[in-house]
Amino acid sequence: MIRTDNLKQPLRWGQIGGGKGSQIGYIHRDAAQRDRNFKLVAGAFDVNPERGRAFGVEELGLDADRCYDDYKQMIEVESKREDGIQAVTIATPNSTHYAISKMALEHGMHVVCEKPLTFTAAESEELKEIALKHNRVFGVMYGYTGYPTIAQAREMVKRGDIGKVRIVHMQFAHGYHAEEVEKNDPGLAWRVTPEASGPSYVLGDIGTHCLQMGHLISGMEMDSLSCMRKSFVESRQLEDDAHVMIRYKNGAVGTLWCSAVAVGNVHDFKVEVIGEKGTIRWWDEHPNQIEYAPLGEPFRKLDRGMGYLHDAARFERIGGGHPEGLFDSWANLYRNMGHAMIAADNDAQQELASIWFPGIDDGIEGVRFIERCVESADNGSQWVNV
Ligand code: NAI
Repeated sequence: MIRTDNLKQPLRWGQIGGGKGSQIGYIHRDAAQRDRNFKLVAGAFDVNPERGRAFGVEELGLDADRCYDDYKQMIEVESKREDGIQAVTIATPNSTHYAISKMALEHGMHVVCEKPLTFTAAESEELKEIALKHNRVFGVMYGYTGYPTIAQAREMVKRGDIGKVRIVHMQFAHGYHAEEVEKNDPGLAWRVTPEASGPSYVLGDIGTHCLQMGHLISGMEMDSLSCMRKSFVESRQLEDDAHVMIRYKNGAVGTLWCSAVAVGNVHDFKVEVIGEKGTIRWWDEHPNQIEYAPLGEPFRKLDRGMGYLHDAARFERIGGGHPEGLFDSWANLYRNMGHAMIAADNDAQQELASIWFPGIDDGIEGVRFIERCVESADNGSQWVNV
């Protein structure tokens, strides 16, 4: 699932957003460059051009002429340079993803974009078409999916260890925003503002992670859903808590809870897949283990890096017992995306198709999920087809 070999040459790479003090910029830079598969050479890091340039030059050591005022200038100039960037990561608020991704793809760049990908599924579908037309790779940073334990869970479900799946329970419920903390936190203020965040807050911000992980491990497709959403902090225009019931096409059922007001919870991103013969569960705060209970037996822990794991889960960086974490998961994903980009450049379509990474289809699915949840919740939680 995740390759263990690195690229012969790093890809020339740029970053849009992810400036100083941003939540997610640092992990993109660390993960992409950890294995020398990407080399940061350009950036439009900040909505404030001066701050972005200063950050790029003084703190990241980039050439001043490759730190740009905005993404348009960066994509225009870089696409004309002989040594211009080959790939770009977009780590800006949600409202900008569509326009930046479109422009980057049309200028021949591979794209790694943050989730939720766009405001509407139609926009995400359009990005897919443009990426296909230009033979560009489009990764979407569902960053929790690069863990060996996730590969193990997938394989166990695939080979029937838990039998036919009956129930998927997904949750990402933290308590950081149980009060109106956005008053002093610009990183949260945009998340609860529809113009910047889109039609949802927690459904898009964290619910999409649950959905994508549930789909990845169980392999099941949604048929219909019913959603209830509410903002407990009254000043918020967008929901800070949502509950979704899901019917899958094969008759299985699911529940998904995403919340920013779950006082006492740290992250609590958990996925539990329950089958006729067993259960597998994963918790992002303990990513080096999954728990497995065969029918009639108690839960046991399976540890990363152990000989009893499936071959597809044997891509750890350091032997079992030494904990790996989110940065490693992201680096694994960047490695696969890098290989995919080179395969696309070489028009090696068969190889490209064989390299797994969270991509545009995951992005589309996430946005469609948000759309359907909003439609359901805003119409008395009625069941809607997905
Ligand atoms: P943030 O508000 O902490 O940082 C956003 C950064 O983008 C800031 O540096 C800001 O100056 C810059 N920026 C804003 N507009 C810009 C523009 N037009 N051009 C260039 N730079 C611009 O936001 P955060 O939390 O880092 O989120 C960014 C994106 O990443 C969001 O889409 C969010 O949903 C996603 N995200 C994904 C996570 C994951 O696990 N994959 C985790 C956290 C966020």
